Amino acid sequence: MFASLLLLLAASAYASPIVYPRDVNDTDPFVFTNYNGLNFTQMNITLPNVTIFATGGTIAGTSGSSTATTGYTAGAVGILTLLDAVPQILNISNVAGVQISNVGSEDVTSTLLLKMAKEINEFVCEDPAMAGAVVTHGTDVLEETAFFLDATVNCGKPVIIVGAMRPSTAISADGPFNLLEAVTVASSPLAKDRGAMVVMNDRIVSAYYVTKTNANTMDTFKAVEMGNLGELISDTPYFFYPPVKPTGKKAYSVANVTSIPRVDILFAYEDMHNDTLYNAVASGAKGIVIAGAGAGGVSSSFNSAMEDVINDYGIPIVQSTRAMSGEVPVSDVSSDSALHIASGYLNPMKSRILLGILLANGKNMTQISEAFAGSADD
Ligand SMILES: *[C@@H]1O[C@H](CO)[C@@H](O)[C@H](O)[C@H]1NC(C)=O
Ligand SMILES: *[C@@H]1O[C@H](CO)[C@@H](O)[C@H](O)[C@H]1NC(C)=O
Ligand SMILES: *[C@@H]1O[C@H](CO)[C@@H](O)[C@H](O)[C@H]1NC(C)=O
Ligand SMILES: *[C@@H]1O[C@H](CO)[C@@H](O)[C@H](O)[C@H]1NC(C)=O
Ligand SMILES: *[C@@H]1O[C@H](CO)[C@@H](O)[C@H](O)[C@H]1NC(C)=O
Ligand SMILES: *[C@@H]1O[C@H](CO)[C@@H](O)[C@H](O)[C@H]1NC(C)=O
Ligand SMILES: *[C@@H]1O[C@H](CO)[C@@H](O)[C@H](O)[C@H]1NC(C)=O
Ligand SMILES: *[C@@H]1O[C@H](CO)[C@@H](O)[C@H](O)[C@H]1NC(C)=O
Repeated sequence: MFASLLLLLAASAYASPIVYPRDVNDTDPFVFTNYNGLNFTQMNITLPNVTIFATGGTIAGTSGSSTATTGYTAGAVGILTLLDAVPQILNISNVAGVQISNVGSEDVTSTLLLKMAKEINEFVCEDPAMAGAVVTHGTDVLEETAFFLDATVNCGKPVIIVGAMRPSTAISADGPFNLLEAVTVASSPLAKDRGAMVVMNDRIVSAYYVTKTNANTMDTFKAVEMGNLGELISDTPYFFYPPVKPTGKKAYSVANVTSIPRVDILFAYEDMHNDTLYNAVASGAKGIVIAGAGAGGVSSSFNSAMEDVINDYGIPIVQSTRAMSGEVPVSDVSSDSALHIASGYLNPMKSRILLGILLANGKNMTQISEAFAGSADD
């Protein structure tokens, strides 16, 4: 009776930590559940706090140790296993862990992206105790997730997307060090107001511009034309410039968005068939992105088909480029229709994400075309 009263008082007085005693050593971190239900590991209360969102597998599938898993329920285990794999993290920050999904990177969907953006806004942006967020992600579609989070989480706190190119079993696996660097940047005051960033292989790159340039090597994530924002030396971040927003970047809210409309990407090539376009429309695409040749180029016959689709169905078509870098200028997309849009510096994958966000937010065609032109004001 007395004990239950005390429990009740504890629960209502403040976000009462549920302590998971780890072992007898005083040097072990204090593990508790914070007021958002996040399991938090705190070694040193003066350090910044970071939330790690894991999209696939367990939060640290790399741990060789099984000692951390005994006596703990699943949610608490993830973060402790992670810290066993990279204990140096606790000298940098206190961390909370969220297993956002359990899928491989190729299976990340827009439904998952919405969940991620909402949870980062809620658990990190709205919690004054949190310095930043880290998202662990497979590398194949990492740039799409990074671009989405850059557009939809805009509270000034750093959102760092990180992955690994080498398998955890490889000699010199890059995962653990990349994760340590990601947490370091997420907890750095220097990283504020720079949007989302990809941190891998000692480089800090803007999520707005980053692309995977190589299918295999560790130095794959680059903003080819724009360069890096900074780098890490001995796990210390060094930024080349003060915080600045990429030209044309806009912030969007997905607070009330429940789904992202389908947007298809069509790859341009010699002999490209009109059918690919009509099939996309017939299959329910609400927007289309063309990975055009050079500065968005398609054959004159395909160009006529695009005009037909725009006029007949009112579907926006964005012309991007299949080249790894460079721009599709407005002047290269000749059309009378506001629905026929040049992607500017956004590659096909980023154009698809942006068009999906704009359609989901009910933006009209003028606003959509202005968003790509980098001149819209909301
Ligand atoms: C706790 O400390 C003792 C003495 O330093 C050490 O032998 C033991 O391995 C520690 N336990 C863990 C889980 O680190
Ligand atoms: C806690 O972190 C601060 C830096 O924020 C450091 O000065 C201090 O030595 C740390 N305390 C312990 C016990 O590690
Ligand atoms: C925190 O841990 C508890 C108990 O293990 C678990 O039920 C809960 O799902 C975890 N929370 C998160 C956000 O992982
Ligand atoms: C954390 O920092 C302390 C003090 O610099 C050092 O003794 C300790 O080895 C560090 N721990 C890890 C896991 O790097
Ligand atoms: C980190 O979070 C704890 C609560 O878990 C809070 O007491 C502390 O002030 C936070 N640290 C910072 C630097 O905000
Ligand atoms: C979301 O919906 C709520 C309730 O209708 C509204 O107050 C809020 O302004 C909306 N937010 C956005 C970004 O549209
Ligand atoms: C593609 O569509 C356009 C516009 O309808 C048409 O002029 C052209 O002949 C078509 N090309 C092919 C190869 O069917
Ligand atoms: C698009 O929306 C903007 C902002 O609400 C509005 O000013 C403009 O008139 C609209 N344009 C069209 C074509 O509906």
